[in-house]
Amino acid sequence: MISIAVFASGSGSNFQAIYDATQSGRLQAQVSLLVCDKPDAKVIERAEKAGVQTFVFSPKDFASKEEYETEIYKQLSQQNVEFIVLAGYMRLIGSVLLEKFKGKIVNIHPSLLPSFPGKDAIGQAVKAGVKVTGVTIHYVDAGMDTGPIIAQQAIEIGKGYTRETIEQRIHQVEHAIYAETLQQLFQQIKKAGNSLIKTF
Ligand code: GAR
Repeated sequence: MISIAVFASGSGSNFQAIYDATQSGRLQAQVSLLVCDKPDAKVIERAEKAGVQTFVFSPKDFASKEEYETEIYKQLSQQNVEFIVLAGYMRLIGSVLLEKFKGKIVNIHPSLLPSFPGKDAIGQAVKAGVKVTGVTIHYVDAGMDTGPIIAQQAIEIGKGYTRETIEQRIHQVEHAIYAETLQQLFQQIKKAGNSLIKTF
């Protein structure tokens, strides 16, 4: 079974959905590590409850991104992690991890990329007054939410929607499609004997 690490910075509802899917067998993977850059994030509690090993760090305790990513890489190696799943990790991945996990890092973003990359994608969509937004799962490259798109699901913003209701709907969709997309991806990679690993 593929060993994955989930990276998160906040509440971790996507971490929870992914972990739950591994427990029910909908996602054939093992969550071997949670990496978190916010020592007070709720996701840490969720990981501890699930019995998932955690690596929690404060970027300010390191001289550079290279330094903390080198430490993260050490932790990933210790847990034999093969694939990285970003789930609300609010930092750009740097050269150390991009190099070591080429084509093996994916992210979920709460908009239909390339619209509304970066922070507060939902707020950006509300401000723009769009009638359709959605969720994107994509490979991670050096840019901000720019890697090749794997899956997307649109969400209509009907009359009377508020920021809160859009956010709820986005989360619902994220929780359903992240595990499902990962399962498909891992099955394809397994079948293709790793030749499907994206290189870009
Ligand atoms: C999710 O909506 C995710 O798409 C978003 O952060 C939220 C984390 O929620 N990620 C980004 O905006 C990345 N650019 P969670 O902590 O409850 O999983």
